[in-house]
Amino acid sequence: MAEKLSFEAPRGMRDFYPEDMVWRNKVFDAFRAAGEAAGFEPYDACVVESYELLARKAGEEVGEQIYHFNDKSERHLALRAEMTPTLARMVAQRQKELPFPLKWTTIAQCFRYERMTKGRKREHYQWNVDIIGEESILAEVEVIGAAVDALRRMGLTTRDFKVHVSSRKFLGELLAKSGIAAEKHAQVFLALDKRGKMPDSEIAAMLKDGGLSDADVEATFKIMDLKSYAGCAELEDLFRLAEIAGFADALQFDISVIRGLSYYTGVVFECFDTAGEFRAIFGGGRYDNLLTTIGGEPATAVGLGFGDVVVTELLKARLGADAVRAKKGVAVGFMFPEQRDAALKLAAKLRADGEAVDLSLKAQKPKKFFSHADQSAAAKAVFLGPDDVEKGVARLKDMATREEQEICLT
Ligand code: HAM
Repeated sequence: MAEKLSFEAPRGMRDFYPEDMVWRNKVFDAFRAAGEAAGFEPYDACVVESYELLARKAGEEVGEQIYHFNDKSERHLALRAEMTPTLARMVAQRQKELPFPLKWTTIAQCFRYERMTKGRKREHYQWNVDIIGEESILAEVEVIGAAVDALRRMGLTTRDFKVHVSSRKFLGELLAKSGIAAEKHAQVFLALDKRGKMPDSEIAAMLKDGGLSDADVEATFKIMDLKSYAGCAELEDLFRLAEIAGFADALQFDISVIRGLSYYTGVVFECFDTAGEFRAIFGGGRYDNLLTTIGGEPATAVGLGFGDVVVTELLKARLGADAVRAKKGVAVGFMFPEQRDAALKLAAKLRADGEAVDLSLKAQKPKKFFSHADQSAAAKAVFLGPDDVEKGVARLKDMATREEQEICLT
């Protein structure tokens, strides 16, 4: 006898049963609607990339989490862990022809060999919203505004989430004022990004490994206690513009937001639930050097990645199942095989009128049909018995109000 295979998906990979798809669709619909409402154009690419494009300098977690393999021609390939390098490659390939600034969006499946914790899987979908070729802070405002809009479309409010904002440029200036040389900043950012995830003593050790003296480490930790962005013109502008755009209440300055990716150069932000129960909902920032890093012409850029995993957990916790229980469409059933043709004909007629119709595949007793229809997604139901077909008239029942309306079968 053949050995029985495990029916489980590989660890960290996700199956989407119909009851999971209703949540995924709700989230994706909000992503797409918010992207469209803010004028972002969809793009896409294959999940397989050359490993070389994704391979990164040491110190970055994502670099170590890449799934990679050699194909039969010994090409070193990888599954993308994020969309940003692919976006940079696509832009660099057509940099002379593209009409900048670009506003592009996609929902990208990404793979990371992560330690499995709440909100972190080895496969996730990540909505990306990026503006390439615009240096003004309005680009940050538009990108963050689109993400806030998506959360609102899902039914959440600024009581549920906050976008924590900082600036690497600002933090860099503060570090420089404390006498920490610019070439050490990248290391400092990577170490500080680990705050809250490991003890400060270990972070201090990482900073010292990066060439900081004891006094520098102390100065660095002091900077991290800063509560205001006074003196940072770009953040002042960002908060003022967000006020005009109507989402300033979603923002909060937070110097501890650093971001774990080394390509960020300016404003950085990360969205969290206000109760602090979940991992980051989305994160992003300005990355002005990525195009040149991969060999393209210089181009300024700002964008974000918004995963489906954490936000779905948050929606389930805050809104419950009602958020996806909207009923729509018509269930059509019939009592005996003799009414099957009439039921199919009615289903075809309703579908031609634009209704979504769930046609029963077998004859059923009315009680069974209506109890099934009650539990299904159908908003209305119609059941055909011998009399209905003979008279050519049936009753369309509203499942919520129980009201009936006569409909013609011919
Ligand atoms: P990131 O912070 O690595 O940024 O990921 C962005 C978001 O993707 C996270 O906030 C989270 O929602 C989701 N995410 C990441 N890893 C996982 C995982 N293992 N399981 C579930 N969800 C996850 C980036 O990837 C940047 N490329 C974003 C960006 C776009 N920056 C500029 N443009």
